[in-house]
Amino acid sequence: MKDVYTLDDLVSRSRLDEGADYPARLAVVGSPVAHSLSPQLHQAALDRAESGVRYIRLEVPPGKVAQALDRLQQLEFIGANVTVPHKFEALEAVDEIDSAASTLGAANTILFDQERKIAFNTDGPGFVRAIHEEFLVDVKDLRIMVVGAGGGAGQAIAAQCARERCQRLVLVNRTLNKAEGLAERLSPCFESERLEGPGQRLVVCPLDSSRLPEETDQVDLIVNTTSVGLRRTDPSPLPSSCLQPHHLVYDTIYNPSQTRLLGEASQAGARTANGLSLLLYQGLLSFELWFPGRHPLDTMRQSLQEALDH
Ligand code: ATR
Repeated sequence: MKDVYTLDDLVSRSRLDEGADYPARLAVVGSPVAHSLSPQLHQAALDRAESGVRYIRLEVPPGKVAQALDRLQQLEFIGANVTVPHKFEALEAVDEIDSAASTLGAANTILFDQERKIAFNTDGPGFVRAIHEEFLVDVKDLRIMVVGAGGGAGQAIAAQCARERCQRLVLVNRTLNKAEGLAERLSPCFESERLEGPGQRLVVCPLDSSRLPEETDQVDLIVNTTSVGLRRTDPSPLPSSCLQPHHLVYDTIYNPSQTRLLGEASQAGARTANGLSLLLYQGLLSFELWFPGRHPLDTMRQSLQEALDH
């Protein structure tokens, strides 16, 4: 058994399952993929359900996602997760795309359904579930600022907020034109019967703008989707003067468990949560696509905590 498999290991079942108790029938496909916690998250639930299924990590270079998915399907896999940097390429490699994956422009879950490959995205719906669990509020009722709207995670979360037609969406990014491109794509979601036009409900703001405090003043939920905070020495992506007691602050980073942003938000009296719940719920929703009717939330939560404590 290997920690990380490659395309070469997909040459035959016997090679893939050498030394293993169960056949591999689920995989996370990425590059690099060695750090992915998805196997821990899913294997605990698979074992609990006595499924006799093994979940593996599969390292796939860019440009080879279609080949990898073809091979997994030939080997009778149930499905796969797709992670960075393949979430966009995966959309090109499937027969059918569900509506969330289509709006989000990226896929993180594949289901092999007989001859077809179907792409889903559980990052967005997982975010909605995570926010509800953490703060007992619905995304659709909130004014939301997404910090880092130029990255993959930021775009997926912003697109989900737009799908939910949240009350206000402020897209903040260091590189303005990326946020502007996203806003253009999402603006149809805000064209509705409401009196306010899309101009007021969908706003773009550069990270270094003097308008930033004014914009933060007018949101309920601030979401960090930048990579700033991954290193313990990182600063906060937002000036602390922007943070207020009425804010809910969600950092998609979960390791470290408390970033500087979350520390400063707590100090300002805001309610905070880290990205562990997002990891958990996107995983749970993938599992439910592969195994309809199963909801192994508690098992997954516990295994994730154990993996992080390790
Ligand atoms: P991806 O998620 O697509 O791999 P990334 O390069 O990791 O993208 O960047 C994710 C987000 O973090 C982007 O919005 C990026 O801003 P830019 O679009 O301006 O590059 C943001 N980001 C990364 N480092 C940052 C920093 N030091 N300060 C502010 N934002 C930063």
